[in-house]
Amino acid sequence: MRLHLWDDQPVALDTVREVVAASRASFAAQWYGMWLLEDECGFAGTCGLRPTEHGDVQVLHSIEPDRWRTGLAIAAARAVLDQAFDVLGLSRVLGCVDTANHASWRVLEKLGVTPLADRADGPTGMGWLQITRERWRSTSS
Ligand SMILES: CC(C)(COP(=O)(O)OP(=O)(O)OC[C@H]1O[C@@H](n2cnc3c(N)ncnc32)[C@H](O)[C@@H]1OP(=O)(O)O)[C@@H](O)C(=O)NCCC(=O)NCCS
Repeated sequence: MRLHLWDDQPVALDTVREVVAASRASFAAQWYGMWLLEDECGFAGTCGLRPTEHGDVQVLHSIEPDRWRTGLAIAAARAVLDQAFDVLGLSRVLGCVDTANHASWRVLEKLGVTPLADRADGPTGMGWLQITRERWRSTSS
C-alpha cells in the first residue's frame, strides 16, 4: 500500500495529520481535497485532488487492499474528474505515477490520461500525465 505513495516508508501520525489538515485547507479555499471512500463494510480508500507545487491540480487514489481490482479506483476517479471539470471548471488535471506502479498506470490509462513529458525524478522513476477538460468531455460522454 505504501510502496508507491510513501516510497515504502512508515508514515508517522504527524504526517497523516498534516495531510488531513492540508486537505481540509484545500477544501476551504478551493473546494477540492481528498474524499474518503466508504462501502457497506466501512472505509474503502481515498481519492481526490491536491495542488502541485507548480500551480496545477493532481488526482490521487488509494484503495484498501481487500477491495483491489473491484473497479473502485476507476469509479472514484471518474467521480473526482467529473467534479474537477464540470463543477470546479478546471482546464486540466495531472497524474503522477511511479513507472513500476502498473495498477495506477492502468487506472489512469482507462481514464484517458496521457503522458505530459518524459520525466524520471523519483527513486523508481515517475511519469507525469495529464487530461484536459476537452478530452475528458469527449471520452467520458
Ligand atoms: C492503484 C490502485 C488505486 C488501483 O485500485 P483498484 O481499485 O484495484 O483499481 P480498479 O479495480 O478500478 O482497476 C482499474 C484497472 O486497473 C487494473 N489493475 C488493478 N490492479 C492492477 C495491477 N496490480 N496490475 C495491473 N493492472 C491492475 C484492473 O484490472 C483494471 O483494468 P481492467 O478493467 O482493464 O481489467 C490500488 O492498487 C492502490 O490503492 N494501490 C496502492 C496505492 C497507490 O499506489 N496509489 C497510486 C499512487 S499514484
